[in-house]
Amino acid sequence: SLPVENVQELASNCSKEIPHRYIRPEMILDKTSTDESSQVPVIDMENLATSHSECQNEMAKLHQACKEFGFFQLVNHGASMVIEKMKVVTEDFFKLPLEQKMACAQVPNHIEGYGQTFVVSEDQKLDWGDMLFLFPLPVSQRNMRFWPNSPTSFRSTLDEYSLQIHKVCMSLFKLIEANLGLEPGKLCSIYQDGIQGIRMNYYPPCRQADKVFGASPHSDGTGLTLLVQVNDVQGLQIKKSNTWVPIKPIPGAIIVNIGDMMEIMSNGEYRSIEHRAVVDFQKERLSIAAFHNANLTAKIGPLPELVKENGAQYKTIGLLEFFGLIPSSKLDGKSPLDRMRI
Ligand code: SIN
Ligand code: FE2
Repeated sequence: SLPVENVQELASNCSKEIPHRYIRPEMILDKTSTDESSQVPVIDMENLATSHSECQNEMAKLHQACKEFGFFQLVNHGASMVIEKMKVVTEDFFKLPLEQKMACAQVPNHIEGYGQTFVVSEDQKLDWGDMLFLFPLPVSQRNMRFWPNSPTSFRSTLDEYSLQIHKVCMSLFKLIEANLGLEPGKLCSIYQDGIQGIRMNYYPPCRQADKVFGASPHSDGTGLTLLVQVNDVQGLQIKKSNTWVPIKPIPGAIIVNIGDMMEIMSNGEYRSIEHRAVVDFQKERLSIAAFHNANLTAKIGPLPELVKENGAQYKTIGLLEFFGLIPSSKLDGKSPLDRMRI
């Protein structure tokens, strides 16, 4: 990977035009939609906990959301307290002076730590954002050298956040396996001891916000991603019927999306949707994404139970081999999902 400038510093020192590597001319042609019916479904976790008809309705709604949108907003998930705490330490971390944040800086060719997304060529366009990317689970694999010591409660808060979000995620896998008609524990056993990545995003304001991406269009490589908005600045957009739909986050909700791994395992029944983040002219934006992947020994491929008359739609490969497909997608624009399609 090639080193990239710190965007927060760049934004605060930048009084004129921003460097051309951030400018994305293709944005001008993009259509966005404000059609209310394009908003993603809202799933109420409390309804799913009951054993009545509300539960059946909510299960059907969840199934439909995973099939059609690949995204939904989750409310009444029970993790509000720790989410609020996590937001505070995340904001406080990015407010630190650069030298202090650099104590957690990425090292060459590794994505973990404080820095930017992978840049694999001199021509690659750049995203208008910095991040702190950590891998809290499995606990045995934690790399504490990248975990901030400041603010002082950062580590304990992230530890708690990581476990609670994992718990919410496992409850979702349990519902999803039921919805897909899989035997109980099938998905949970693949994801329970999986790799969890938590990526805290900081998008500074940009004087040319209409010409840059905070996060370039992509689909997530994960099983499931659970995202929270830290402040009230919108920016996430998902692609639906060739238009970009800005998501209106419900305060306190977790935005959940199906990732490539889950699309593949479901043999295409569930969809991993392309999305992106845009930035604001005046205000900074922060978000926290938690990625839940299969365990290290898992095979990434369609689950045999879900391969029907249509046959397997994707190849089957090892987890690490699958992750290896991600950097090459930045070189030729062909996504890991496309590479896996038969
Ligand atoms: C991403 O999907 O990479 C970023 C999402 C966000 O910041 O809202
Ligand atoms: Fe994403």
